[in-house]
Amino acid sequence: MIKPDAMRKNLIGEILKRAEDAGFKIVDLKVGKFSLTQARKFYQVHQEKSFFEKLVKFVSSGKVVGVLLTRRNAVKKLRKLVGATDPKEAKRGTIRRDFATNVTKNAVHASDSAQSFRYESKFFF
Ligand code: RTP
Ligand code: MG
Repeated sequence: MIKPDAMRKNLIGEILKRAEDAGFKIVDLKVGKFSLTQARKFYQVHQEKSFFEKLVKFVSSGKVVGVLLTRRNAVKKLRKLVGATDPKEAKRGTIRRDFATNVTKNAVHASDSAQSFRYESKFFF
């Protein structure tokens, strides 16, 4: 998912290109906007975390793009392409290193398992 900070910075094309160049196929795309309630549901695994309210406020602050990608080993490969949560710790050449603003406004979300993919993709597709 392309997060509101990247949307505001006009980075949709650049981010999709990174995915395509890394061997992913774009299967589907959907622009959406989360309400606070939907954002809380999407990120419910984090509801006990200190950053939860900040996160859901941010993610519902503007439009997002749901991006359905496919390739072999997609979850692992995409997490690698996305980079560490905090862009200061993300490796060179990763999406977050190059496009994130900070640890909250970090440009993209990527499912961290097949199980979370099944849950999260339902919000868009
Ligand atoms: P994501 O779920 O968005 O792909 O990111 P992630 O797996 O790398 O990070 P995760 O631990 O799942 O956290 C989800 C999102 O919460 C925000 N966050 N803020 N210390 C903080 O202030 C903090 N830690 C995490 C980020 O937007 C992160 O992507
Ligand atoms: Mg996560």
